[in-house]
Amino acid sequence: MAKVKTTFFCQSCGNQYAKWQGQCTACKSWNTIVEEVIQKADKSDWKTPTSASKRVSKPLKIKEIDSAKEARLNTFDQEFNRVLGGGIVPGSLTLLGGEPGIGKSTLLLQISLKLPYKTLYVSGEESQKQIKMRAERVNPNNDTCYILTETKTQNIFKQIESLEPEVVIIDSIQTLHSDYIEASAGSISQIKECTTELIKFAKETSTPVLLIGHITKDGHIAGPKILEHMVDTVLQFEGDRNHVFRILRAHKNRFGSTNELGIYEMQGSGLREVTNPSEILISKKDEELSGNAIAVTLEGMRPLLIEVQALVSTAVYGTPQRSATGFNAKRLNMLLAVLEKRAGFRLGAKDVFLNITGGINVDDPAIDLAVVAAILSSNEDEAIQKDYCFAAEVGLSGEIRPVQRVEQRILEAEKLGFATIFVSKYNKISLKNTAIKIQLVSKIEDLVGYLV
Ligand code: TYD
Ligand code: MG
Repeated sequence: MAKVKTTFFCQSCGNQYAKWQGQCTACKSWNTIVEEVIQKADKSDWKTPTSASKRVSKPLKIKEIDSAKEARLNTFDQEFNRVLGGGIVPGSLTLLGGEPGIGKSTLLLQISLKLPYKTLYVSGEESQKQIKMRAERVNPNNDTCYILTETKTQNIFKQIESLEPEVVIIDSIQTLHSDYIEASAGSISQIKECTTELIKFAKETSTPVLLIGHITKDGHIAGPKILEHMVDTVLQFEGDRNHVFRILRAHKNRFGSTNELGIYEMQGSGLREVTNPSEILISKKDEELSGNAIAVTLEGMRPLLIEVQALVSTAVYGTPQRSATGFNAKRLNMLLAVLEKRAGFRLGAKDVFLNITGGINVDDPAIDLAVVAAILSSNEDEAIQKDYCFAAEVGLSGEIRPVQRVEQRILEAEKLGFATIFVSKYNKISLKNTAIKIQLVSKIEDLVGYLV
């Protein structure tokens, strides 16, 4: 009988140790090192389905490499294509992470049902019946998608060998286990081993593999950091679970930019692509309400209009409350201090609540001006005209600072029928004859003049 062999792994960075220690010397975190049983079987006979026919690679001059082969597979999902940079690259490994229940399985099942290629959807989490039920809600008419419920990689490769799918989807990497490692599924060594096997398979056969990954409670993909290094693309599916919108972003993309963003809406019949996000993020009200302002932000390369809501009220307790949803709370405090100092508003004794509607998180500094406007409006209980919108950063001295791609933002606001956009005086704008009025402001004081 083979001797039981154990190794110690850091659960946060995946570093390997021969014996236990309190602190991981690589990532400096405490109490993250756990023992895992590994027992490698003889790997010499191990092969992925087509390794028999694999070609031996030899060095090539860069101009001899045929780049035409990088043709991408269209996923027939505009948003997904956009985030990937145009489609799935053959032989690539894509990891999709996200909180439980956010819709990762739905998204990838939906994509596999849209693909006209032979697709194998391997699930270690749900039974074939459950997947069928889900598929019926999404798109029941498809005869190129195969469902397999299996968690052992060797068995999966056996099925792949006979089926020869053009795309493989794994739901999820944490449920897989390989015979060559004793440790339980989801442990660092298993994740590492299964991913290595899948990479080997993907690169040798040029079959793209899409993996679903769980995330830990602090938002990182569960398993070693090395997992993110191993794959070609890391996508994150996020959004507030109580809201209907879901945002897909690329955290890492070897074949495209990480600036692109896909937006979906969760419906009864699966995820719907949202091709014009601004229209739904702004609640179209007839009534003008105080404390609402529209910001023209940029998510990736796409301009996105979102609504900022502020509520300023007299503090009941000694220490005023400050709370922000979808916006950095420290930045909110900074903007309040600027308002206090530069515009003479006494906000020190007021509670301030800020909310970005639609459940999205914004880190574009161009939202600052809308935040300031919403706070001013709520404080004065004076509504901002509903055809006003804002796109500028606010500096510590109360100056309105320029933002990138301002012309693109102006055109988007114009397209959506806004009458006036407030931007920084220091932005270079060469647009002529726009239907939208471009109001240049240089200081917070100027803005106050226009709003109240
Ligand atoms: P799921 O894809 O199972 O999430 P994950 O794999 O990320 O854990 O998504 C489950 C949620 O999506 C669940 O709360 C129900 C909802 N849902 C819909 O609203 N409409 C649908 O058509 C489907 C399939 C799911
Ligand atoms: Mg799932």
